[in-house]
Amino acid sequence: MSNSVLKAIAERYSCRGYTEQVPTDEQLKAIADAAVMAPSAMNLQPWKIIVIKDRDILNDLESDAIEYLANLENKAMYERIMSRGGKVFYNAPVMFLIPIKEGGELDCGIVCQNITLAAHSLGLGSVICGMARIPFDGARGQEFKERVGFPEGYKFGMSVLVGYPASNGTPHEPDRSKITFVG
Ligand SMILES: Cc1cc2nc3c(=O)[nH]c(=O)nc-3n(C[C@H](O)[C@H](O)[C@H](O)COP(=O)(O)O)c2cc1C
Repeated sequence: MSNSVLKAIAERYSCRGYTEQVPTDEQLKAIADAAVMAPSAMNLQPWKIIVIKDRDILNDLESDAIEYLANLENKAMYERIMSRGGKVFYNAPVMFLIPIKEGGELDCGIVCQNITLAAHSLGLGSVICGMARIPFDGARGQEFKERVGFPEGYKFGMSVLVGYPASNGTPHEPDRSKITFVG
């Protein structure tokens, strides 16, 4: 079976290289709308959506994350990133940052999926990016939170990077051995 929703789910992949073209405000508003349409337990909507297009902020967040990884005793992650071009945000022009209230982790995951599928449906690439936690939870966290208007009483939930893919990617092979039907 197929329809536009199933097709978007099947085609989506984590995009790890972006062109410099910035999505339009109309596209970003449509994605942000999809984000806040996500279901949440008791409809508490324990999230905020901050759309960051400021190149200086994105560069500073990335440098902070790379510096942190470079200073870890275990250099495996740093070396992996360096071997892949030295980027943790892959030149993405936009970050959807999702601050959440305590306990909002699952709801946040659904928001992320709405963002990635909405982005895909608009011809954009995306990748859910947990690495953005590093700068917001790190030594300069307060400074970064102030720069992006991070709300009081919220913590880092997740980020999703969005932009135009620099090249085509492929979705991962679905592992249907994980599925069982009962009855
Ligand atoms: C919670 C979460 C955090 C993730 N963080 C990162 C990240 O920091 N950097 C990255 O390149 N990919 C990240 N990913 C993307 C996964 O690596 C990716 O979804 C997985 O490898 C499957 O590939 P696909 O998305 O192309 O199907 C994250 C995904 C999830 C769900």
